[in-house]
Amino acid sequence: MVKKKFYITTPIYYVNAPPHIGHAYCTTAADVLARWHRLKGEDVFFLTGTDEHGEKVQEAAKRGGKTPKEFVDALVPKFKDTWQNLNITNNKFIRTTDTEHEKGVIEFIKKVNKAGDIYKGMYEGWYCVPDETFFTELQLVNGKCPVCGRDVKKVKEDSYFFRLSKYQKPLLEFYKKNPEFLSPAHRAQEIINRVEGGLHDLSITRASFNWGIPFPLDKKHVTYVWFDALPNYITALGWPKGKDFKKFWPADVHLIGKEINWFHTVIWPAMLMSAKIKLPKKVFAHGWWTVEGEKMGKSRGNVVDPNVLVQNYGADAVRYFLLREVPFGMDGDFSEAALVARINSDLADDLGNLLMRTLAMTEKYFEGKVPEISKKEINASELRKQADILDALDSKMDSLEFSEALQLIWNFVRHCNKYIADVKPWELQKQGKKKELAVAIYGLLESLRIAAVLVSPFMPSKSAEILSQLSLPGKVSIKDAKWGMLKPGTKIAKGDILFKKAELKQDPFEKLDLRVAKIADVKEHPDADRLYILQVELGGSRRQIVSGIREYYKKEELVGKKAVFICNLKPAKFRGIESQGMILAADDGKNLSILLAQNSEPGTSVFAEGISRKPAAQITFDEFQNIQIIVDKDGFVKYNGKKLRIQSEEIRTERKVNEGARVR
Ligand code: MSP
Repeated sequence: MVKKKFYITTPIYYVNAPPHIGHAYCTTAADVLARWHRLKGEDVFFLTGTDEHGEKVQEAAKRGGKTPKEFVDALVPKFKDTWQNLNITNNKFIRTTDTEHEKGVIEFIKKVNKAGDIYKGMYEGWYCVPDETFFTELQLVNGKCPVCGRDVKKVKEDSYFFRLSKYQKPLLEFYKKNPEFLSPAHRAQEIINRVEGGLHDLSITRASFNWGIPFPLDKKHVTYVWFDALPNYITALGWPKGKDFKKFWPADVHLIGKEINWFHTVIWPAMLMSAKIKLPKKVFAHGWWTVEGEKMGKSRGNVVDPNVLVQNYGADAVRYFLLREVPFGMDGDFSEAALVARINSDLADDLGNLLMRTLAMTEKYFEGKVPEISKKEINASELRKQADILDALDSKMDSLEFSEALQLIWNFVRHCNKYIADVKPWELQKQGKKKELAVAIYGLLESLRIAAVLVSPFMPSKSAEILSQLSLPGKVSIKDAKWGMLKPGTKIAKGDILFKKAELKQDPFEKLDLRVAKIADVKEHPDADRLYILQVELGGSRRQIVSGIREYYKKEELVGKKAVFICNLKPAKFRGIESQGMILAADDGKNLSILLAQNSEPGTSVFAEGISRKPAAQITFDEFQNIQIIVDKDGFVKYNGKKLRIQSEEIRTERKVNEGARVR
């Protein structure tokens, strides 16, 4: 019998920065789906990769003093490592700089040209470099990018166009005939309305930069990033002639984030229609994560690194959280507190506890062996009905309702815990009801085995651990989800607890309230030769600060400077004068320098990249002394390797101090 095939893709990610939790979300969801279909015995091809061309990469490389290729080569391993850490089982990792891909794109453009769908014209419009997207005058919001709100630049140049307008009707017909294509359903109407509103032809080349695939019809042009990126889904399979293309295309699901839905549900299918290639069966646009209520971004300093989460909590816990916390397709909010709460309740208390108690009772009452009961008793078990969730689960997975799928499994797990509380095996033991006790323990062990099978796409390592404690092999298939397969008499192998309780670790740096303040006035301390009394402005309020930098700075060198202060340091008196905070200075033993933030408003918060700010009401001087902030060789100020910054600028020392100077 020919195996059913399943082809799933993620977006190919831009390589301008390392992957974050948003990228991890999409890739993890795709991995869970890929594993689920493999569990069902299907032949799966799971693709992810990186999108490496374009002006943004070219500019970032230039800033870093690298060639574009050097720049992308340095970042790609960060994606590959992250996927390894998260236990991702992609069958291929495509890079748009792969020769095979570049050849494929050129071939693809030739086909579209043959269909009469490319013509030369003049492009006039607005371009947002960070988003790699062109906008018409009408689309701008207050003259800025409608997506990110940043500045756009005016572009007017020769360009080749793709006749997107020609595909308005065919697209609308296609949506009608294939209602599953636009998923989830709540995002479908928006696309349909926009397409009904009319389609403009799409500019598909640029002549203003050269980091891209040369446009085969005119070597002065490079291919616009999306016309380069979208075909990755077929070039990865060796289109046009590749064996994998014949076998796996069309894609069963393109998994993407909602912000690139238009490209995948309008432009990509139109491109495929033009090239006379079958259309994908489904495009599923998932929602976006914010972080503690805010949009995630480098300038906010709240980018969540999935590798750090994996290191602190384990890959399976992170995978579980991402897919359980928010219904797939909706937006959600990430917080480490929410992750810890899930680990402690769902993973440690529900699943972990069930395993530990069940195995402990098996050891205590049955010498560590699966109780001997008859086939008839196995089939009559009360838990059998509860374990029968496969069909329901399959339908949830089919519609990519991961959170609901996990809820089904957890209802079952919780039911097992309740069963223990109701049946009270310890009482059965006391009353000498050995038969009932055997039936109960067998049922619990068998339930755990089935839960491990069903949860395996989500938590592959923990699933294998449960199975190994039941002395079973970790490799399973959907057929193993049938009740009654656990052999009586098997010796179990109780091991470590499955999930340790997690604790929210607070980084001491989070407690600091660092802000920019402007030095308004400086006076000598009347009773101390080495101290100044500074009056500083903190955006609305003023403070008095006593500081020991008098040896190093003349008064006039300080007045008017905007520098970094700790605002929540416990007030203290120095020779009778109160200090309400402290000015930070880097000290290498010889030289001393204050920390400048010259381009920001007084009162602006200073943070370390990637560390959220949760200032305590007050911190002591000793607490502050334990936080090591140092200066690097370029004069940047760092905590734990993370630069101190405000949204718009990085903090630097005002004067040159040696590398490694301590900030105090
Ligand atoms: N290179 C294009 C895609 C080309 S596909 C032919 C691109 N890359 S990207 O690096 O910006 O990655 C976009 C994807 O990352 C989103 O579609 C989404 O899957 C994921 N996410 C990025 N930020 C996200 C959140 N804050 N939350 C959830 N997912 C997000 O666009």
